[in-house]
Amino acid sequence: MSSDESTPLDNLSHEERSFAPDPAFARDAVAQATLYAEADQDRLAFWARQARELLTWETDFTDTLDWSNPPFARWFGGGKLNAAYNALDRHVEAGNGDRVAIHFEGEPGDTRAYTYAQLTEEVKKAANAFAALGVTAGDRVAVYLPMIPEAVITMLACARIGAAHSVVFGGFSADALRSRIDDAEAKLVVTADGTWRRGKPSPLKPAVDAALADGQSTVENVVVVQRNGEPVEWTEGRDAWWSDTVGTASAEHTAEAFDAEQPLYILYTSGTTGKPKGILHTTGGYLTQTAFTHRNVFDLRPETDVYWCTADIGWVTGHSYVVYGPLVNGATQVIYEGTPDTPHQGRWWELVQKYGVTILYTAPTAIRTMMKWGDDIPGQYDLSSLRVLGSVGEPINPEAWMWYRRVIGADRCPVVDTWWQTETGAIMISPLPGVTATKPGSAQVPLPGITADVVDDTGASLGDGEAGYLVLREPWPSMLRNIWGDPDRFVQTYWSRFPGMYFAGDGAKKDDDGDVWLLGRVDDVMNVSGHRLSTAEIESSLVGHPAVAEAAVVGAADETTGQAVIAFVILRGSAAEEDHDAMSETLRQHVGKDIGAIAKPRKVLIVPELPKTRSGKIMRRLLKDVAEGREVGDATTLADSTVMNQIAADFAK
Ligand code: PRX
Repeated sequence: MSSDESTPLDNLSHEERSFAPDPAFARDAVAQATLYAEADQDRLAFWARQARELLTWETDFTDTLDWSNPPFARWFGGGKLNAAYNALDRHVEAGNGDRVAIHFEGEPGDTRAYTYAQLTEEVKKAANAFAALGVTAGDRVAVYLPMIPEAVITMLACARIGAAHSVVFGGFSADALRSRIDDAEAKLVVTADGTWRRGKPSPLKPAVDAALADGQSTVENVVVVQRNGEPVEWTEGRDAWWSDTVGTASAEHTAEAFDAEQPLYILYTSGTTGKPKGILHTTGGYLTQTAFTHRNVFDLRPETDVYWCTADIGWVTGHSYVVYGPLVNGATQVIYEGTPDTPHQGRWWELVQKYGVTILYTAPTAIRTMMKWGDDIPGQYDLSSLRVLGSVGEPINPEAWMWYRRVIGADRCPVVDTWWQTETGAIMISPLPGVTATKPGSAQVPLPGITADVVDDTGASLGDGEAGYLVLREPWPSMLRNIWGDPDRFVQTYWSRFPGMYFAGDGAKKDDDGDVWLLGRVDDVMNVSGHRLSTAEIESSLVGHPAVAEAAVVGAADETTGQAVIAFVILRGSAAEEDHDAMSETLRQHVGKDIGAIAKPRKVLIVPELPKTRSGKIMRRLLKDVAEGREVGDATTLADSTVMNQIAADFAK
């Protein structure tokens, strides 16, 4: 790998700290070490057993994996099931209808609890309402909702009638929403008037109105949940309140079983080019692996645990570990709408205490933020209910890992660092609590049934201590099946770099014990607060502004957010004469409007020239050196070697 992919983790092949499982925890753990041997012996039989034990099939499958046309996989062929039935009805039928499925806590402090029986009823009503609006199996429904129970209800109602949901994170702009609606050709949008953010109402419907303003989209109806009561514009004939549609629908609905490969959802994620990719997940394999991992990685006891994953449903973690994994397993969980520091910085810990949360799953960026706020804040709450702590979304630095274990987990709870992606659908590399001796900062071992490896440029396996590319050698049940509408891009992006292997886009290294350390992306994908952003997408937004001639974007290391977006921009003609500070701010806002607030560059530096090779290729590596405050690396291949001196001087100002 080139120098700009190295991270401080490179020095950590000799991590000495290791935390052996507590013997009492290990004895009763859900996951036992025998799982590895079982999966090694016969991987497909292992997954077939999980599929049959964890799910209820209306028709049993006959063919565990069809890999006759790689990389297009078909899992559990011949099998038929309904995802919503697996997440809901069957728990009620088994006598667990009174178990709480969701403890909802709104940011302003309003609360709602749904038992499995109540959630099932709501989903049946929503399924009837969506069907009455003309949604049928195979259609797509766009979901643009905050973290409220209706988001879960909507997703499961779509699954119930065989329509694929396409959830768009509420922080994305109207333009981003429209391009996702168009790509998926969504028939229905489900949204809310708004949500609450840091104590204030934050609107959502205006973005839907703006996205659909030209009346030219495939969308026929918009269902609007009333959440914050702010006034909204209304398009007669198109818009309908949730309370008038879902609220009045019949609660009788029998779930039809669909093929194991029925599309379950599309979720757009950033790639290395400008256009987001619609990652397609299907039903049987996805549910098998999300349920398996949720149960084993978090040591889940559905009867007694209170689980809380802090992810928004706009991201894959919210799909797999708020909606499908926990509900298929019949878990009780907490859903929180708001920000961690509203109305005070102890809000999360207050919720852990209030609901007696036993399993917490969050992102390193949140852990680092809380670390900065100080130990005395969590110290004011009773966190003794916690017993397993999870991390996801980006590499966790050993310091944050240790803080999480010590301050939140009282040196008692196992910490599981889980590596996976939108594309993998479920956790792939992670310790198993009670089995694995955990190591701060390492995701450690591929889960049973998963074959991960670290390879060099030629695809050859690397030994311990060598850094290379993370690949997956064999198909897995929850793998993406395609990029929506673009099979060529699917093959090209994931299966061509190393023929016969899935290329994850991450750098990795095995330490002396063979444990895997993730080293960050090796492509032009950035990871800001655990959110995936593409440099190309932000560059294309910047050059779409009339004042911009050229733009280069890099992700610079940041203590709290993992990476921060830094843009270098050459202005066009007369724009160059304008006040640079004002112009930088205009461009930050422009990206916010185009893509969403999360993509706004932390800094836009206006430069006279960008570092280019003689063939005109921008050397982002050098810009990253500047943005990260390092001495600028080898610039000898630049067409004009003085360019970097100027940029470095301007950046330091
Ligand atoms: O770079 C890896 C990083 O997040 C990327 C996937 O992002 P996304 O599809 O948005 O899914 C995030 C939640 C699963 C990966 O390519 N990543 C995710 N988890 C970890 C991680 N990097 C290091 N350690 C992790 N535990």
